Amino acid sequence: MTDIYTSAARSAPIGVFDSGLGGLTVLRELLTLLPEEDFVYLADNANAPYGRNSFTTVRHDTLNNVDFFMSQGVKMIVFACNTSSAIALDAAKERAGSLPVIGVIKDGIKAAMEASADKNDPPKIAVLATDATVSNGIFTKELPRIFTENNLSEPIVIQQACQDFVQLVEEGNWTGPLAEEMAEHYLGNVRESEQPDIAILACTHFPFLKDVIQKALPETELVDCSKAVAHEVKKLLVSMELLNDKKHKSELMFYVTEDQPGIEQNIERILDIEIDGVHHVDIKNAEGFER
Ligand code: DGL
Repeated sequence: MTDIYTSAARSAPIGVFDSGLGGLTVLRELLTLLPEEDFVYLADNANAPYGRNSFTTVRHDTLNNVDFFMSQGVKMIVFACNTSSAIALDAAKERAGSLPVIGVIKDGIKAAMEASADKNDPPKIAVLATDATVSNGIFTKELPRIFTENNLSEPIVIQQACQDFVQLVEEGNWTGPLAEEMAEHYLGNVRESEQPDIAILACTHFPFLKDVIQKALPETELVDCSKAVAHEVKKLLVSMELLNDKKHKSELMFYVTEDQPGIEQNIERILDIEIDGVHHVDIKNAEGFER
C-alpha cells in the first residue's frame, strides 16, 4: 500500500453494531481508549432482540450489518453483541475478507480469567446471556478451553438466560423495583443453589443493570467484555498500522434500522455527550445489502 492509501485507511471510521443500546457499553470504552478514532454505530433495532431470533435469522441480519459497514468504508468492524459473536462471527469474517472483524466472546472470558485469581479453584462461573447465546452454548465450550490453554483450572460453568433484561434496558429501566424484581426472578435460584464466584455479563445490554444484578448476586464478582474489547481493538489497530494519526476528537455517526423515539436522548445519556442526531438506514431494502 502506498502512503496515501494507508493514510486514507487510517482515517476511516470503525464500525460498531448491536441490536440496540447494549453495544454502547463497548463504544463507551472504545471512546475512552481511542479518543482520536471515528466511529459509525449501528443499532439494528428493527430486528431486535437478537436473542429471541433463530440462528439463521441472527446470521442473516449480522451479515447485512457487515455489508452496510463495508458500504460505509470502515477500517474495522466490532461486534458489540455477544449473540452475533456467538452465532455469526466466522461467517462475517468470511464475508468481510481482508477487513478485520472483532467479536466479544473471548474478551468476556478474558475478564473472567483476570477475576479468577483470588477465587475458588476451580472457579464457578455463571454466564448471563440471551436465549440464543445460551442455546448456542459457545461459553460452555470456550471457557474451559481458554482457561486450560492459559494454565488455569477448568472452571465450573453455569448458564442462565436473562433475555427480558434486554427490553428492560431498551426501555430505560436500569434500576428500581421492576429491574430488581426481574433480576431476582432470573438470578434468585442461581444465588441460592450455585453461588457462583464470577458472573460474566455476556450480553452487552447487561452492564446497564449491574447494580440490580449485583444486588441479586451479592457474593459474585461481575465482569463484562467491554474494556478487553477496547484493548483488543487498539492492539489490532497498532499491529495493522491503522491507528488514526490525525489529532482530532472522535466523530460519531449513529444509525438505526427502525425509528425509535427517545433513542437519541438515551445515547447522549449513556455516552455523556451531545450527538448530531440519529440516522435511519433501511438495510434490508438497500441495494447490495441483501444476499
Ligand atoms: N446486546 C446483545 C448481546 O450482547 C443482543 C441482545 C438482544 O438483542 O437480544 O447479546
